[in-house]
Amino acid sequence: MDKLLITGGSPLNGVVRASGAKNAALPILAATLLTKDLITIKNLPHLHDITTMLELLGSMGCGVVVDEKMSVQLDISTLNNCEAPYELVKTMRASILVLGPLVSHFGRAVVSLPGGCAIGSRPVDLHLRGLEAMGAKIDVTGGNIVATVDGRLQGARIFFDKVTVTGTENLLMAATLAEGQTVLENAAREPEVVDLAECLIAMGAKITGHGTDTIVIEGVEALNGTTYPVMPDRIETGTFLVAAAITGGKVKVIDTDVKSLEAVLAKLEEAGAKVACGENWIEVDMEGRRPNAVNISTAPYPAFPTDMQAQFVALNSVATGVGRVIENIFENRFMHVDEMLRMGADIEVMGNTAIIRGCDKLKGAPVMATDLRASASLVLSALVAEGDTKIDRIYHIDRGYECIEEKFGALGAKISRVLN
Ligand code: EPZ
Repeated sequence: MDKLLITGGSPLNGVVRASGAKNAALPILAATLLTKDLITIKNLPHLHDITTMLELLGSMGCGVVVDEKMSVQLDISTLNNCEAPYELVKTMRASILVLGPLVSHFGRAVVSLPGGCAIGSRPVDLHLRGLEAMGAKIDVTGGNIVATVDGRLQGARIFFDKVTVTGTENLLMAATLAEGQTVLENAAREPEVVDLAECLIAMGAKITGHGTDTIVIEGVEALNGTTYPVMPDRIETGTFLVAAAITGGKVKVIDTDVKSLEAVLAKLEEAGAKVACGENWIEVDMEGRRPNAVNISTAPYPAFPTDMQAQFVALNSVATGVGRVIENIFENRFMHVDEMLRMGADIEVMGNTAIIRGCDKLKGAPVMATDLRASASLVLSALVAEGDTKIDRIYHIDRGYECIEEKFGALGAKISRVLN
């Protein structure tokens, strides 16, 4: 299993380009199932989860042609089965995103019920309840979700008990080909949901209200092909900006989305960083200072994103003062804490709250990645720690961060991948 070897202590300085957003690319690739025309998706990040989604589409008989710039042309007209097998779904829960498009376009979908994952039980009850409200028959047998409908799905008014990103995305996609109007209430407002909606509109869907908590979709008979570039990754961007703050350096992220990180930039400024923004770039300059501790409480967009929580626990672990981090979205998203304690961090977890007392220095140590964003926080901790840190199970990182050692290396980090 590959490991990352990092020698901490040098402030990061330089410019790095944001890759395409994993959490926009995954629903947009699933949305290609809604048309029989050729469709091209550009600016895909070169990540394991993207490869898995392309494998999944290929396993259904779709034509998949990827070029060297990670643009992919998909031909759904050759689709010959509507099944997402357990072997693929167990490696990537976002496979659930093919459920809505398949049942809406082909009248049938068999998707392995995603199990829980490291950060929580991750139920999909809201996805299923919404599809039932649109007339789909849902059976869960032998670990599979079997969704069927005779004819077209029917538009419906759907209220989400909880804000769910992929739940909103699944039903948004299903509603584009349903008969009549669908209203999604208490919908997710994440930028990735907006990016999906914009791609669907480019395919001919009739959608309004995306980016607000009420999305209205007028169903159409068919959707056409298009060429659509995926938005930049705001969580990757935020992670590199925290890397500047935690090491006292100066990092500029280019080709990124400036509007979607307000809550994160506000917290970086509160931590003492100088933040500057241009049309498509964001720069953080810590001017050699140690960060101040900040309090975080995660919530759906536009509030502070749960996917940046672990990174700020790392920032607080070397800050002056005491920071309080409250995780309101997932029930088990502090697994990075145990690993940081091995590096000398002073963190106490009580339920969904972590109290972090900043220390002068973390010490390098062998640690283990447990989930995608936890592993990013271990990289950040290692960059500022004294001595060497070896991070094991970095396949978690490769799921969400493209060429992580190259990108951090270009910013002056002493980082290498140990293959074995
Ligand atoms: C998406 O997951 C993201 N994944 C996650 O990013 C992100 O952390 C999460 O949204 C929250 O922003 C993708 O977009 C592929 P939810 P998702 O449904 O959609 C509960 C990363 O690191 N819930 O918004 O699975 C659920 O248990 C990943 O890139 C139900 O109860 O999250 C959670 O407590 C990790 N029933 C809350 O809602 C449902 O049917 C929010 O989950 C669905 C969700």
